[in-house]
Amino acid sequence: MPDLISPRPAKIIAVANQKGGVGKTTTAINLSAALAEIGRRVLLVDLDPQGNASTGLGIGPEQREVTTYDFILGDAKAKEAIHETDVENLFIIPATTDLSSADIELISNEKRSFLLYDALRDPALAQLEFDYILIDCPPSLSILTVNALVSAHSVVVPLQSEFFALEGLSQLMLTIREVREAANPNLRIEGIALTMHDRRNKLSHQVEADARNTLGELVFKTLIPRNVRVSEAPSFAMPVLDYDSGSTGSAAYRALAQEITARER
Ligand SMILES: Nc1ncnc2c1ncn2[C@@H]1O[C@H](COP(=O)(O)OP(=O)(O)OP(=O)(O)O)[C@@H](O)[C@H]1O
Ligand SMILES: [Mg+2]
Repeated sequence: MPDLISPRPAKIIAVANQKGGVGKTTTAINLSAALAEIGRRVLLVDLDPQGNASTGLGIGPEQREVTTYDFILGDAKAKEAIHETDVENLFIIPATTDLSSADIELISNEKRSFLLYDALRDPALAQLEFDYILIDCPPSLSILTVNALVSAHSVVVPLQSEFFALEGLSQLMLTIREVREAANPNLRIEGIALTMHDRRNKLSHQVEADARNTLGELVFKTLIPRNVRVSEAPSFAMPVLDYDSGSTGSAAYRALAQEITARER
């Protein structure tokens, strides 16, 4: 029987694609911000040693004393690791390059694939009552991305609207299948988000048609347009929704958030 008193656990969404530069971090930041804007409490976990999500939300390196690395190793409590951002309802656990040593250091750790899972199920984190936890993955299928897939309820896959977009997808799908078989049978694909779509470019339309033909309902209806305001926003340490609320990029990320919240029970 459902417990009516305790809050509903956060929905955990990994933003993953091993291909570099496809819009993972941009999607993690702006989808988080769009969910926060409609009143959801959101935690963004920066799981990329590059720390782009942290920088993009204004958490400078000097503020990153406690990071995702400490959090997944259990060396820091959720409360110590979580930072407020300038966006209401949006919080972040920042990353630094120390995460890049995780791959090697974790090899000897028996629980290496479950560290983030365990960290995110800490009762102290549940008390903070997040509605969504988004995980910005690095561009690899490393132990870090595996940790994200093991701990998540679903995956958002950003796919850049360019020629080879679909090629790397089979490798990611294989990894998702392996994670389902070994550790997380209920892992769902939340959706594939076509990013940097240029409606004046025939190729963008071709990629969209190919993606919808092969992947059907898995592809979000929302297209994320290529929009210079989206790419400028991180250098002002803001989501595009705050940097230029009326931009086409902001509208797209709001629509993406609506697609996802429409599935809330
Ligand atoms: N919708 C968009 N319009 C314009 N530029 C975009 C858009 N989405 C992403 N970009 C730009 O594309 C580049 C790559 O985006 P992003 O950093 O989000 O990708 P990533 O997949 O996280 O990269 P990495 O694999 O290195 O982590 C960035 O310079 C970003 O500003
Ligand atoms: Mg990134």
